[in-house]
Amino acid sequence: MAVGSAAIGGTPWLCAIAGIWAQAGSALLQIGPLARGKQSIMHRQDLHNALKMLEEQGLRRRRRTLESPQGAHVLVDGKPYIAFASNDYLGLAGHQELIEATQKAVLEWGVGGGASHLVSGHFGAHERLEAALAGFVGQEDALLFSNGYMANLGVVTALVGRGDAIFADKLNHASLNDACVLSRAEFRRFPHNDMDALARQLETTPAKTKLIVADAVYSMDGDVAPIHELVALADRYDAWLLLDDAHGFGVLGPHGRGTLLAFEVSSPRVIYMATLGKAAGVSGAFVAGSAELIEWLVQRARTYIYTTSQPPMLAATLLKSLELIERDDWRRERLQASISQLKAGLAGLKWRLLPSETAIQPLIIGDNGDALRVTEGLRDLGLWVPAIRPPTVAPGTARLRISVSAAHVPDDIDKLCVALQQLAR
Ligand SMILES: Cc1ncc(COP(=O)(O)O)c(C=O)c1O
Repeated sequence: MAVGSAAIGGTPWLCAIAGIWAQAGSALLQIGPLARGKQSIMHRQDLHNALKMLEEQGLRRRRRTLESPQGAHVLVDGKPYIAFASNDYLGLAGHQELIEATQKAVLEWGVGGGASHLVSGHFGAHERLEAALAGFVGQEDALLFSNGYMANLGVVTALVGRGDAIFADKLNHASLNDACVLSRAEFRRFPHNDMDALARQLETTPAKTKLIVADAVYSMDGDVAPIHELVALADRYDAWLLLDDAHGFGVLGPHGRGTLLAFEVSSPRVIYMATLGKAAGVSGAFVAGSAELIEWLVQRARTYIYTTSQPPMLAATLLKSLELIERDDWRRERLQASISQLKAGLAGLKWRLLPSETAIQPLIIGDNGDALRVTEGLRDLGLWVPAIRPPTVAPGTARLRISVSAAHVPDDIDKLCVALQQLAR
């Protein structure tokens, strides 16, 4: 296992970014002809037409505006909803103890970080949070990033570059895919959870530095990656393994310590990444691993180096959040009870839940228009469940991403099940 050649030699980032966006236009942006017509993208009428096309295909997304804190019960455009729409899996985003911790933190640390970490934006609150996070997930050290997208871009591009190879699950999160493209390493994808295919790719690669990249819990399917097999392959082929535990941290493992500890695996090849804007209820992300890995990221992860630090008051708030995650096992128990209730309540429905044991419970509808109609029908009944459509998921697999939280009460789950039974008729 080596640190990639481009990482050592220094990646020509600006050229890389320009090239990547041109190259990745159709794959990442999915705006059809616009991505190909470099000059037409500048024209307002072309944008108008492309937006119209998205509308006609049922692919135009709209933002809805919350007028209340995030949670299981929210106010949207003046109307109350039971929400199954966020990643606030433990119900911490609007939690009183976290609000009070933030109030205290803002008096201690002020509002902004004011500079990047390596200049003058690294605070005691960051240091303490990093140490606490590392200990919590059983790793030597940790590094805090402003969000998960930046963490993934930073890690991948710091470890591999031209001449290296990345092996990525087909259903990985977009931020991982973007990171892989940006790295300029050879970017190979294997069918979802297909360990034989991954083994074949690892077997035949001539690359010296290899990086396997996978979500630990898949964000749109809710299934857990085959962690033991991934670690075994990383060990066998001397590859790094980056595990993105955005949806497992706080939810899985003893006291919510995450997917790695849930599977009781440890390997020097594993790089653990998790986000802090989901179950932790705040914002940010971290990468954990050996002290050398973290020091290398401090030196080379550009999305760590060239950006203003996360406000230290948020780091201080996150210390409190970590305390609640560890302390409140009842939140995970309640979450599991709600998941079981949901599954029982939707049994026999014409739409099927994917086999997921996590807080992400996707109900496959299929057609984009149908998914929108169901989501709108639920909305009329005061229930908010987002419809997820291509390009986020594969064509023909539009779905409702039902996101369950510890903040839901049995009556919330009941209402959703009754409404879906009604709409399925
Ligand atoms: C698997 C996964 N990784 C990374 C991210 C990005 O994290 P963040 O929202 O903190 O940028 C997300 C979701 O946003 C995600 O679902």
